[in-house]
Amino acid sequence: MNDKYTISIVGGSGALGSGLAFRLARSGHNVLIGSRSRERAEACAQELNQKIGGTNIVGVTNLEAAQQGEIVFLTVPYGNHGDTLNEIKDHVSGKIVVDVTVPLVPPRVARVTLPPNGSAAVTTQVTLGESVRVVSAFHNVAAVHLHDVDHVHECDVLVFGNDKEARSVVVDLADQMGLKAWHGGSIDNSVMGESLTPVLIFINKHYGVNGAGLRITGRPAA
Ligand SMILES: NC(=O)c1ccc[n+]([C@@H]2O[C@H](COP(=O)([O-])OP(=O)(O)OC[C@H]3O[C@@H](n4cnc5c(N)ncnc54)[C@H](OP(=O)(O)O)[C@@H]3O)[C@@H](O)[C@H]2O)c1
Repeated sequence: MNDKYTISIVGGSGALGSGLAFRLARSGHNVLIGSRSRERAEACAQELNQKIGGTNIVGVTNLEAAQQGEIVFLTVPYGNHGDTLNEIKDHVSGKIVVDVTVPLVPPRVARVTLPPNGSAAVTTQVTLGESVRVVSAFHNVAAVHLHDVDHVHECDVLVFGNDKEARSVVVDLADQMGLKAWHGGSIDNSVMGESLTPVLIFINKHYGVNGAGLRITGRPAA
């Protein structure tokens, strides 16, 4: 793989997906915004291109995004996670799929709710199969901060997945977006990243924080 990718974002018209698209495109990657509506995707792409002063974001359907991306991000609400996985399943074999899904169940979004098989990311790995290198990450990053070009990120990113090389690709992408990312281990560990988000949402509400985050202390050995 090159270090400049074609990166698709299924559900990319939303808050987190468009924030990731903005940061990835600013880092020089070609980005495909996926949506159920081509018009919505194109409008989102146009707005982000104007913000960046570039042309490297294109709006497509979710299906085209899954087909054309070298790396495919999945950024839809948990309630639509299963249906969207089934839609992209036949088009992502051999690719890295980056799942940001937090299993929130409205209206109780400040409470941890776990899917039957442990986490959204395990569901993704089981549904897509072992030919897909599923990585889960960005669960704890507030979308509003990704959109703010001047924001200096204080929230670290935990990156989970069974394929170390695929995790490293996502750690590097996060770094390019201005975020400090850490390998967090296998996809089974994703439950921890996913579970921290309702806690952060609770902290946001309780203390009036605009996008609470988390930071890992300690320094890697040289
Ligand atoms: N927002 C955050 O700060 C944040 C932070 C960390 C993790 N996350 C996670 O990231 C994911 C996306 O969050 P978000 O806040 O960006 O969500 P969102 O804005 O509510 O939705 C993202 C996109 O999903 C698509 N969508 C909505 N309903 C759908 C349906 N019924 N079927 C298929 N697609 C549907 C929409 O795209 P189209 O209508 O254009 O198809 C929408 O733009 C969630 O799993 C969330 O838990 C969010």
